[in-house]
Amino acid sequence: MQAQITLLPGDGIGPEVVGAGVDALMAIAQRFGHTFDIDEALIGGAAIDASGEALPEATLAKCRAADAILLGAVGGPKWSDPSAKVRPEQGLLALRKALGLYANLRPVQLHPVLADLAPVKADRLAGVDLLVVRELTGGIYFGEKRREGDTAFDGCSYSVAEVERVVRLAARLAAARKGRLTQVDKANVLETSRLWRQVTSRVIESEFPAIALEHQLVDSMAMHLIAKPAAYDVIVTENLFGDILTDEAAELAGSLGLLPSASLGDAGPGLYEPIHGSAPDIAGQDKANPVGTILSVALLLRWSLKLDAEATALEQAVARAIEKGARTADIAGSGPALGTRAMTAAILAELGD
Ligand code: IPM
Ligand code: MG
Repeated sequence: MQAQITLLPGDGIGPEVVGAGVDALMAIAQRFGHTFDIDEALIGGAAIDASGEALPEATLAKCRAADAILLGAVGGPKWSDPSAKVRPEQGLLALRKALGLYANLRPVQLHPVLADLAPVKADRLAGVDLLVVRELTGGIYFGEKRREGDTAFDGCSYSVAEVERVVRLAARLAAARKGRLTQVDKANVLETSRLWRQVTSRVIESEFPAIALEHQLVDSMAMHLIAKPAAYDVIVTENLFGDILTDEAAELAGSLGLLPSASLGDAGPGLYEPIHGSAPDIAGQDKANPVGTILSVALLLRWSLKLDAEATALEQAVARAIEKGARTADIAGSGPALGTRAMTAAILAELGD
Protein backbone atom coordinates (compact mmCIF):
# COMPACT_ATOMS: atom_id res chain seq x y z
CA MET A 1 0.00 0.00 0.00
CA GLN A 2 0.90 3.67 -0.29
CA ALA A 3 0.33 5.94 2.71
CA GLN A 4 1.09 9.54 3.65
CA ILE A 5 2.49 10.03 7.14
CA THR A 6 3.14 13.39 8.78
CA LEU A 7 5.84 13.56 11.44
CA LEU A 8 5.66 16.05 14.30
CA PRO A 9 8.97 15.59 16.15
CA GLY A 10 8.34 18.44 18.59
CA ASP A 11 10.73 19.20 21.44
CA GLY A 12 13.34 17.62 23.71
CA ILE A 13 13.79 13.92 22.90
CA GLY A 14 10.90 14.14 20.40
CA PRO A 15 13.12 14.33 17.28
CA GLU A 16 15.25 11.36 18.43
CA VAL A 17 12.33 9.04 19.17
CA VAL A 18 10.51 10.10 15.99
CA GLY A 19 13.74 9.25 14.14
CA ALA A 20 13.44 5.75 15.59
CA GLY A 21 9.80 5.65 14.47
CA VAL A 22 10.81 6.54 10.92
CA ASP A 23 13.40 3.73 10.93
CA ALA A 24 10.63 1.36 12.02
CA LEU A 25 8.27 2.59 9.27
CA MET A 26 10.99 2.20 6.64
CA ALA A 27 11.90 -1.29 7.86
CA ILE A 28 8.24 -2.34 7.66
CA ALA A 29 7.86 -0.74 4.22
CA GLN A 30 10.83 -2.68 2.92
CA ARG A 31 9.92 -5.99 4.53
CA PHE A 32 6.26 -5.93 3.45
CA GLY A 33 6.48 -3.98 0.17
CA HIS A 34 4.71 -0.73 1.13
CA THR A 35 5.46 2.90 0.29
CA PHE A 36 5.23 5.40 3.13
CA ASP A 37 5.58 9.02 2.00
CA ILE A 38 6.84 11.06 4.90
CA ASP A 39 6.41 14.73 5.55
CA GLU A 40 7.48 16.75 8.59
CA ALA A 41 6.03 19.77 10.38
CA LEU A 42 6.60 21.91 13.48
CA ILE A 43 4.62 21.76 16.71
CA GLY A 44 5.12 22.86 20.30
CA GLY A 45 8.17 24.82 21.41
CA ALA A 46 9.94 24.30 18.08
CA ALA A 47 6.94 25.90 16.33
CA ILE A 48 6.78 28.77 18.82
CA ASP A 49 10.44 29.53 18.16
CA ALA A 50 9.89 29.50 14.40
CA SER A 51 6.53 31.25 14.11
CA GLY A 52 5.23 32.35 17.51
CA GLU A 53 2.44 29.75 17.35
CA ALA A 54 2.35 26.28 18.96
CA LEU A 55 0.24 24.84 16.12
CA PRO A 56 0.91 26.78 12.89
CA GLU A 57 -1.74 26.62 10.16
CA ALA A 58 0.74 24.88 7.83
CA THR A 59 1.21 22.07 10.37
CA LEU A 60 -2.52 21.52 10.73
CA ALA A 61 -2.89 21.44 6.94
CA LYS A 62 -0.19 18.77 6.62
CA CYS A 63 -1.83 16.74 9.39
CA ARG A 64 -5.25 16.93 7.76
CA ALA A 65 -3.76 15.74 4.46
CA ALA A 66 -2.08 12.70 6.03
CA ASP A 67 -3.31 9.14 6.56
CA ALA A 68 -1.69 9.16 10.01
CA ILE A 69 0.45 11.39 12.23
CA LEU A 70 3.42 10.38 14.39
CA LEU A 71 4.32 12.80 17.19
CA GLY A 72 7.32 12.81 19.54
CA ALA A 73 6.75 15.12 22.51
CA VAL A 74 6.18 18.80 23.24
CA GLY A 75 7.33 21.17 25.98
CA GLY A 76 10.39 22.06 27.98
CA PRO A 77 11.76 24.58 30.47
CA LYS A 78 12.50 27.09 27.70
CA TRP A 79 8.77 27.66 27.18
CA SER A 80 7.48 27.01 30.74
CA ASP A 81 7.26 30.54 32.11
CA PRO A 82 3.82 30.64 33.83
CA SER A 83 3.17 34.10 32.39
CA ALA A 84 3.91 33.00 28.79
CA LYS A 85 0.96 33.68 26.46
CA VAL A 86 1.56 30.62 24.32
CA ARG A 87 2.79 27.25 25.59
CA PRO A 88 3.97 24.18 23.61
CA GLU A 89 1.24 22.00 25.14
CA GLN A 90 -1.44 24.23 23.59
CA GLY A 91 -0.27 23.02 20.18
CA LEU A 92 -0.93 19.39 21.08
CA LEU A 93 -4.31 20.15 22.66
CA ALA A 94 -5.35 22.27 19.66
CA LEU A 95 -4.32 19.47 17.27
CA ARG A 96 -6.33 16.84 19.18
CA LYS A 97 -9.36 19.15 19.15
CA ALA A 98 -9.04 20.25 15.50
CA LEU A 99 -8.84 16.65 14.28
CA GLY A 100 -11.69 15.46 16.53
CA LEU A 101 -9.47 12.86 18.24
CA TYR A 102 -11.79 12.17 21.15
CA ALA A 103 -10.45 8.78 22.18
CA ASN A 104 -6.92 8.15 23.40
CA LEU A 105 -6.04 4.46 23.60
CA ARG A 106 -3.22 3.61 26.00
CA PRO A 107 -2.49 -0.12 26.17
CA VAL A 108 -0.39 -1.36 29.09
CA GLN A 109 1.23 -4.70 28.39
CA LEU A 110 4.14 -6.04 30.38
CA HIS A 111 7.30 -7.79 29.32
CA PRO A 112 7.81 -10.57 31.88
CA VAL A 113 11.60 -10.07 31.85
CA LEU A 114 11.13 -6.47 33.02
CA ALA A 115 8.90 -7.37 36.00
CA ASP A 116 11.64 -6.54 38.49
CA LEU A 117 11.77 -2.93 37.29
CA ALA A 118 8.24 -2.14 38.42
CA PRO A 119 7.88 -0.70 41.92
CA VAL A 120 5.03 -3.20 42.42
CA LYS A 121 5.71 -6.75 43.60
CA ALA A 122 6.21 -9.11 40.63
CA ASP A 123 3.45 -11.54 41.73
CA ARG A 124 0.85 -8.77 41.32
CA LEU A 125 1.92 -8.15 37.73
CA ALA A 126 1.18 -11.62 36.37
CA GLY A 127 -1.54 -11.40 33.73
CA VAL A 128 -1.68 -7.58 33.52
CA ASP A 129 -3.10 -6.53 30.14
CA LEU A 130 -4.84 -3.18 30.36
CA LEU A 131 -6.28 -0.80 27.82
CA VAL A 132 -7.05 2.67 29.10
CA VAL A 133 -9.40 4.68 26.89
CA ARG A 134 -9.02 8.31 27.87
CA GLU A 135 -11.52 10.93 26.64
CA LEU A 136 -9.28 13.47 24.89
CA THR A 137 -11.17 16.52 23.65
CA GLY A 138 -13.39 17.52 26.56
CA GLY A 139 -13.47 18.12 30.29
CA ILE A 140 -11.32 20.48 32.29
CA TYR A 141 -8.59 20.57 29.62
CA PHE A 142 -10.89 22.51 27.31
CA GLY A 143 -13.09 24.39 29.79
CA GLU A 144 -13.08 28.13 30.25
CA LYS A 145 -9.92 29.33 32.01
CA ARG A 146 -9.71 32.71 33.65
CA ARG A 147 -8.40 34.76 36.54
CA GLU A 148 -10.51 37.10 38.66
CA GLY A 149 -8.42 39.05 41.11
CA ASP A 150 -6.50 36.51 43.17
CA THR A 151 -8.72 33.60 42.10
CA ALA A 152 -8.23 31.23 39.16
CA PHE A 153 -10.96 29.21 37.42
CA ASP A 154 -10.88 26.08 35.21
CA GLY A 155 -14.26 24.98 33.96
CA CYS A 156 -15.15 21.31 33.45
CA SER A 157 -18.09 20.24 31.31
CA TYR A 158 -19.16 17.10 29.45
CA SER A 159 -22.17 16.61 27.20
CA VAL A 160 -24.13 13.37 26.83
CA ALA A 161 -22.87 13.01 23.25
CA GLU A 162 -19.23 13.42 24.28
CA VAL A 163 -19.56 10.64 26.84
CA GLU A 164 -21.61 8.35 24.58
CA ARG A 165 -19.12 8.28 21.71
CA VAL A 166 -16.06 7.44 23.79
CA VAL A 167 -17.95 4.87 25.87
CA ARG A 168 -19.20 3.17 22.68
CA LEU A 169 -15.66 2.99 21.34
CA ALA A 170 -14.34 1.60 24.65
CA ALA A 171 -17.17 -0.96 24.74
CA ARG A 172 -16.40 -2.15 21.20
CA LEU A 173 -12.76 -2.60 22.19
CA ALA A 174 -13.76 -4.43 25.39
CA ALA A 175 -16.05 -6.73 23.39
CA ALA A 176 -13.03 -7.80 21.31
CA ARG A 177 -11.00 -8.47 24.49
CA LYS A 178 -12.17 -9.95 27.81
CA GLY A 179 -15.51 -8.16 27.76
CA ARG A 180 -14.91 -6.18 30.93
CA LEU A 181 -15.25 -2.39 31.16
CA THR A 182 -14.40 -0.22 34.18
CA GLN A 183 -15.67 3.35 34.07
CA VAL A 184 -13.76 5.71 36.35
CA ASP A 185 -15.11 8.97 37.78
CA LYS A 186 -15.60 11.00 40.95
CA ALA A 187 -19.37 10.66 41.08
CA ASN A 188 -19.50 11.17 44.84
CA VAL A 189 -18.43 14.80 44.28
CA LEU A 190 -18.65 15.94 40.64
CA GLU A 191 -21.78 16.55 38.56
CA THR A 192 -19.89 15.77 35.33
CA SER A 193 -18.97 12.40 36.87
CA ARG A 194 -22.61 11.65 37.67
CA LEU A 195 -23.43 12.30 34.02
CA TRP A 196 -20.60 9.95 32.96
CA ARG A 197 -21.99 7.23 35.23
CA GLN A 198 -25.59 7.56 33.99
CA VAL A 199 -24.68 7.70 30.32
CA THR A 200 -22.21 4.81 30.57
CA SER A 201 -24.76 2.58 32.33
CA ARG A 202 -27.43 3.35 29.74
CA VAL A 203 -25.16 2.83 26.72
CA ILE A 204 -23.80 -0.48 28.03
CA GLU A 205 -27.16 -1.86 29.19
CA SER A 206 -28.96 -0.97 25.98
CA GLU A 207 -26.25 -1.51 23.35
CA PHE A 208 -23.66 -3.86 24.87
CA PRO A 209 -25.55 -6.22 27.21
CA ALA A 210 -22.71 -8.79 27.09
CA ILE A 211 -20.16 -6.35 28.56
CA ALA A 212 -19.54 -6.60 32.32
CA LEU A 213 -19.55 -2.97 33.48
CA GLU A 214 -18.10 -1.75 36.75
CA HIS A 215 -17.88 1.84 38.08
CA GLN A 216 -14.92 2.98 40.15
CA LEU A 217 -14.13 6.22 41.92
CA VAL A 218 -10.83 7.62 40.67
CA ASP A 219 -9.16 7.70 44.07
CA SER A 220 -9.91 4.05 44.70
CA MET A 221 -8.95 3.20 41.10
CA ALA A 222 -5.51 4.76 41.71
CA MET A 223 -5.14 2.36 44.62
CA HIS A 224 -6.46 -0.74 42.81
CA LEU A 225 -4.22 -0.08 39.82
CA ILE A 226 -1.17 -0.92 41.89
CA ALA A 227 -2.81 -3.33 44.35
CA LYS A 228 -4.51 -5.62 41.78
CA PRO A 229 -3.78 -4.42 38.22
CA ALA A 230 -4.51 -7.83 36.68
CA ALA A 231 -8.18 -7.50 37.70
CA TYR A 232 -8.87 -4.93 34.94
CA ASP A 233 -9.36 -5.12 31.19
CA VAL A 234 -10.60 -1.89 29.54
CA ILE A 235 -10.81 1.30 31.60
CA VAL A 236 -12.72 4.31 30.24
CA THR A 237 -12.51 7.71 31.86
CA GLU A 238 -12.50 11.46 31.39
CA ASN A 239 -9.56 13.49 30.12
CA LEU A 240 -7.84 14.54 33.37
CA PHE A 241 -8.32 11.25 35.23
CA GLY A 242 -7.02 9.37 32.19
CA ASP A 243 -3.92 11.57 32.01
CA ILE A 244 -3.09 10.84 35.64
CA LEU A 245 -3.98 7.14 35.74
CA THR A 246 -1.98 6.31 32.61
CA ASP A 247 1.26 7.72 34.03
CA GLU A 248 0.59 5.58 37.10
CA ALA A 249 -0.18 2.52 34.94
CA ALA A 250 3.07 3.04 33.02
CA GLU A 251 4.98 2.28 36.20
CA LEU A 252 3.56 -1.25 36.04
CA ALA A 253 5.44 -1.75 32.79
CA GLY A 254 8.67 -0.54 34.39
CA SER A 255 9.16 2.73 32.50
CA LEU A 256 7.13 5.53 30.98
CA GLY A 257 9.43 5.13 27.97
CA LEU A 258 7.82 1.83 26.96
CA LEU A 259 4.24 2.85 26.38
CA PRO A 260 2.53 3.92 23.15
CA SER A 261 -0.76 5.66 22.48
CA ALA A 262 -3.24 6.14 19.66
CA SER A 263 -5.64 9.07 19.44
CA LEU A 264 -8.64 8.39 17.23
CA GLY A 265 -11.75 10.14 16.01
CA ASP A 266 -14.64 9.00 13.82
CA ALA A 267 -12.93 10.03 10.58
CA GLY A 268 -9.66 11.47 9.37
CA PRO A 269 -6.11 10.66 10.41
CA GLY A 270 -5.17 9.17 13.77
CA LEU A 271 -2.39 10.65 15.92
CA TYR A 272 0.20 8.32 17.44
CA GLU A 273 2.62 9.26 20.19
CA PRO A 274 4.54 7.73 23.06
CA ILE A 275 2.97 8.67 26.40
CA HIS A 276 6.24 10.04 27.80
CA GLY A 277 7.14 13.72 27.72
CA SER A 278 10.00 15.65 26.11
CA ALA A 279 12.59 14.73 28.81
CA PRO A 280 14.74 17.85 28.26
CA ASP A 281 17.36 16.54 30.71
CA ILE A 282 18.44 13.82 28.27
CA ALA A 283 17.54 15.51 24.96
CA GLY A 284 20.10 15.25 22.17
CA GLN A 285 22.17 12.63 23.99
CA ASP A 286 21.00 9.43 22.23
CA LYS A 287 19.69 8.12 25.58
CA ALA A 288 15.91 8.13 25.11
CA ASN A 289 13.99 4.86 24.98
CA PRO A 290 12.52 4.48 21.46
CA VAL A 291 10.16 1.65 22.44
CA GLY A 292 7.13 3.85 23.21
CA THR A 293 7.42 5.44 19.77
CA ILE A 294 8.09 2.18 17.91
CA LEU A 295 5.04 0.62 19.58
CA SER A 296 3.10 3.77 18.59
CA VAL A 297 4.13 3.05 14.98
CA ALA A 298 2.69 -0.45 15.47
CA LEU A 299 -0.61 1.11 16.59
CA LEU A 300 -0.48 3.45 13.57
CA LEU A 301 -0.07 0.46 11.25
CA ARG A 302 -2.96 -1.37 12.93
CA TRP A 303 -5.50 1.40 13.43
CA SER A 304 -4.92 3.89 10.61
CA LEU A 305 -3.48 1.69 7.86
CA LYS A 306 -5.24 -1.59 8.79
CA LEU A 307 -1.92 -3.44 8.49
CA ASP A 308 -2.45 -5.91 11.29
CA ALA A 309 0.27 -8.42 10.38
CA GLU A 310 2.82 -5.61 10.08
CA ALA A 311 1.78 -4.18 13.47
CA THR A 312 2.11 -7.58 15.12
CA ALA A 313 5.52 -8.16 13.50
CA LEU A 314 6.80 -4.88 14.96
CA GLU A 315 5.40 -5.65 18.42
CA GLN A 316 7.00 -9.08 18.34
CA ALA A 317 10.34 -7.57 17.29
CA VAL A 318 10.21 -5.26 20.34
CA ALA A 319 9.38 -8.19 22.64
CA ARG A 320 12.17 -10.36 21.21
CA ALA A 321 14.81 -7.63 21.48
CA ILE A 322 13.86 -7.02 25.12
CA GLU A 323 13.85 -10.75 25.86
CA LYS A 324 17.35 -10.99 24.40
CA GLY A 325 18.55 -8.26 26.76
CA ALA A 326 18.44 -5.04 24.68
CA ARG A 327 18.00 -2.20 27.19
CA THR A 328 18.07 1.59 27.17
CA ALA A 329 19.22 3.32 30.37
CA ASP A 330 15.70 3.68 31.83
CA ILE A 331 15.21 -0.10 31.84
CA ALA A 332 18.81 -1.27 32.27
CA GLY A 333 19.00 -1.21 36.07
CA SER A 334 22.72 -1.49 36.84
CA GLY A 335 23.42 -3.37 33.58
CA PRO A 336 24.79 -2.05 30.29
CA ALA A 337 22.57 0.32 28.30
CA LEU A 338 22.14 0.95 24.58
CA GLY A 339 21.56 4.39 23.09
CA THR A 340 18.39 5.29 21.19
CA ARG A 341 19.89 4.35 17.82
CA ALA A 342 21.44 1.06 18.92
CA MET A 343 18.21 0.04 20.69
CA THR A 344 16.23 0.83 17.53
CA ALA A 345 18.66 -1.23 15.44
CA ALA A 346 18.43 -4.15 17.91
CA ILE A 347 14.63 -4.10 17.62
CA LEU A 348 14.51 -3.81 13.83
CA ALA A 349 17.07 -6.60 13.45
CA GLU A 350 14.40 -8.86 14.97
CA LEU A 351 12.04 -8.12 12.05
CA GLY A 352 14.07 -10.41 9.80
CA ASP A 353 14.37 -9.88 6.03
C1 IPM B 1 -0.19 13.43 27.72
C2 IPM B 1 0.52 14.69 28.16
C3 IPM B 1 -0.28 15.89 27.68
C4 IPM B 1 -1.65 15.83 28.33
C5 IPM B 1 0.38 17.26 27.95
C6 IPM B 1 1.75 17.33 27.29
C7 IPM B 1 -0.49 18.40 27.51
O1 IPM B 1 0.70 14.69 29.54
O2 IPM B 1 -0.38 13.26 26.50
O3 IPM B 1 -0.55 12.62 28.57
O4 IPM B 1 -1.82 16.22 29.49
O5 IPM B 1 -2.58 15.34 27.67
MG1 MG C 1 0.14 12.87 30.47
